[in-house]
Amino acid sequence: MKVLVINGPNLNMLGIREPGVYGNGSYNDLVALIRRTAEEEGVETDFFQSNHEGALVDAIQQAYGVYDGLILNPGAYTHTSIAILDALKAVSLPAVEVHISDVSKREPFRQISYAGMACVKTYMGLGFDGYLHALRFLKQYLTERP
Ligand code: DQA
Repeated sequence: MKVLVINGPNLNMLGIREPGVYGNGSYNDLVALIRRTAEEEGVETDFFQSNHEGALVDAIQQAYGVYDGLILNPGAYTHTSIAILDALKAVSLPAVEVHISDVSKREPFRQISYAGMACVKTYMGLGFDGYLHALRFLKQYLTERP
C-alpha cells in the first residue's frame, strides 16, 4: 500500500511560522513522525511539499497509477483552489484532508474547503497527529474497499 503525503504552501515553514497556531515542530519533524508511524503500519509513504499551486496539481496527477491514496494539506490553497479539487476528481484516488489548526474556528475566508469536497475524510485541529489519524484511516479505508 503506497500513500503520497502532499503539503502545500508555507508548510515548509513549520516551526518558524506562527508557532501558536501550528506548533514548534518543523516540516522535517512532521515527515519523520509520519514516516515512523507509516513503517509501524506497514504503509509505504512518499512526501511532496510545494508553495506552487500548479506543482501541487502536477503531483496529484502524477500520483495516478502510482499511489493507492493521498494525504493532503493544501494550506491556503484549500480555500481557493478549484484546480486542486479538479485534480483530485480527475485521478479519483482516495484522499484524506488534514489541517493542523482547527480551520472551522478561524477566519471566515477559511470556512470553505474546495479540496475537501473530493476527500473521503477531514482531520483538523489535531496538530501533527491529524496526519497520523489520516494515515490509519486511509489504511483501513483501502483495506476494506471492495
Ligand atoms: C492549514 C490551514 C490553512 O487555512 C492555512 O492557510 C495553512 C495551514 C492548517 O494546516 O491548519 O496554510 O492548512
